Amino acid sequence: MTDLTLAPRQAPERRARLRRYLMTPPEHFAVSYAINPWMDPAVPVDVGRALAEWRILRDTYRRLGHRVDELPAPAGLPDAVYAANGALVTPRVTVGARFAYPQRAAEAEVYADWLDRAGLGPVARPTEINEGEGDLLLAGSVILAGTGFRTTRAAHAEVARLTGLEVITLELVDPRFYHLDTALAVLDDDAIAYLPSAFSPASRAELERRYPDAVIAAEADAAVLGLNLVSDGRNVIMAAAAVGLARDLELRGYVPVPVAMPELLKGGGGIKCCTLEIRRDTDPEGMVP
Ligand code: ARG
Repeated sequence: MTDLTLAPRQAPERRARLRRYLMTPPEHFAVSYAINPWMDPAVPVDVGRALAEWRILRDTYRRLGHRVDELPAPAGLPDAVYAANGALVTPRVTVGARFAYPQRAAEAEVYADWLDRAGLGPVARPTEINEGEGDLLLAGSVILAGTGFRTTRAAHAEVARLTGLEVITLELVDPRFYHLDTALAVLDDDAIAYLPSAFSPASRAELERRYPDAVIAAEADAAVLGLNLVSDGRNVIMAAAAVGLARDLELRGYVPVPVAMPELLKGGGGIKCCTLEIRRDTDPEGMVP
């Protein structure tokens, strides 16, 4: 008999599900105001570099078989490249955004308009402040919802009402991790990774209770926005600098796909920020396999 206790633990084989994403090129990217600690208007940004980084990300998704739609860059809205904030698109409901800062307010209508035209409406226009998938992360049948800096608790209740889904409020406490998608990543319907110190004690306890097997990220990996990642269930497109997190994900059977976005990081955003997932497909063939 083989001694099973000596057998190496096998990581499960992960399966990718093809996705559909919406991205907005950083043609008008700039850091002309500061609404998070990463932004410093005194540091110059290079739009050419930002565009090159963004194209690599877009092409990475396409190479993996995913569909990427592009929203034409709106002039005068330098943060519109962070498409995740533009809405929340669940399989049944599209909820528009309402931004916390006036500098980004006009983005809400730009995204809602595009989604309406793409046949992904009707777009519910919220009355409370929510910054889309920046703070509202769909994990299986629940929405993990951040608050503390941008999206409000009142918005969590509104999103629960509009989507009919359970919304779990998580309080963010570290200004560097001002959106939930900078502190927590959804790897699969029931798997997440997060940085515990970014959450209030009560929210940490809630995460421990709900996700006892979660990947716990190190501060150093979160500080390069390593948690601001996009997972298709198998491939994890993530910041190249988050090497510790990449190793932990590999041990669990995921396939890290490193992408570097130093220029776009100057706006306080990473890979997930630039990516809005559209959990629906209006193609006649139906949902991509
Ligand atoms: N400069 C943008 C802001 O502060 C960055 C948004 C990043 N997006 C995100 N999903 N975390 O609003």
